[in-house]
Amino acid sequence: MPATIILAPSILSADFVNLGRELAACESAGADWIHVDVMDGAFVPNITVGPLVVEACRRGTKLPLDVHLMIEQPERMIASFAKAGADRLTVHVETCPQLPDTLKFIKSLGVKAGVTLNPSTPAAMLQPVLKMVDLVLVMTVNPGFGGQAFIPEMLTKVAEVRRMLDEIGSPAWLQVDGGVSEKTIPALKKAGATAFVAGNAVFKHPQGPATGVQALRAALA
Ligand code: DX5
Ligand code: ZN
Repeated sequence: MPATIILAPSILSADFVNLGRELAACESAGADWIHVDVMDGAFVPNITVGPLVVEACRRGTKLPLDVHLMIEQPERMIASFAKAGADRLTVHVETCPQLPDTLKFIKSLGVKAGVTLNPSTPAAMLQPVLKMVDLVLVMTVNPGFGGQAFIPEMLTKVAEVRRMLDEIGSPAWLQVDGGVSEKTIPALKKAGATAFVAGNAVFKHPQGPATGVQALRAALA
């Protein structure tokens, strides 16, 4: 298991009028990665951002850009996101019939490859690709929107994926995304998560995103 714990604010909950300022606040408060949620209105019932905004983030922060692709046929867009400056690209097992090839393609572009699965998709679906990924993301809400309630049943899945990664000695990050907060962090960390995405807990914090980052960091200590 990696020694470091990663905190990745999700800009889905940021103020897009002031995106540069929001990114700077996260960076100076000590965030590790910036999480960008890409939604296509087909795989999930919402539309968000594309390579254009990833490219803007690339200019707005030095932090690695962790791009979560909630889109059908992601292989059509992977090269564009890599060119825009994504450091990491995570695809859903539900959208990739040729999952090993898709992950190989991401890696061939010099980008770290991640795989994720919806709450109702069993962890066993990860088995064939576990050795080749840099990150496994366990969704702890049904993807589509920020600010949803954490699904507590996902703790068992996080622990199961932790066991699967440890069994093969994988150094991959075990990321969680959805409803991550000061309240849910202790149990997620105990279950074996090592990378934490947070939207509302950072950007809707009453004292602003820098305080949100610091509060989550304290909960992760
Ligand atoms: C959900 C997205 C998340 C979302 C998390 O579809 O993948 O990254 O921004 O938001 P919070 O932390 O508010 O649940
Ligand atoms: Zn996400």
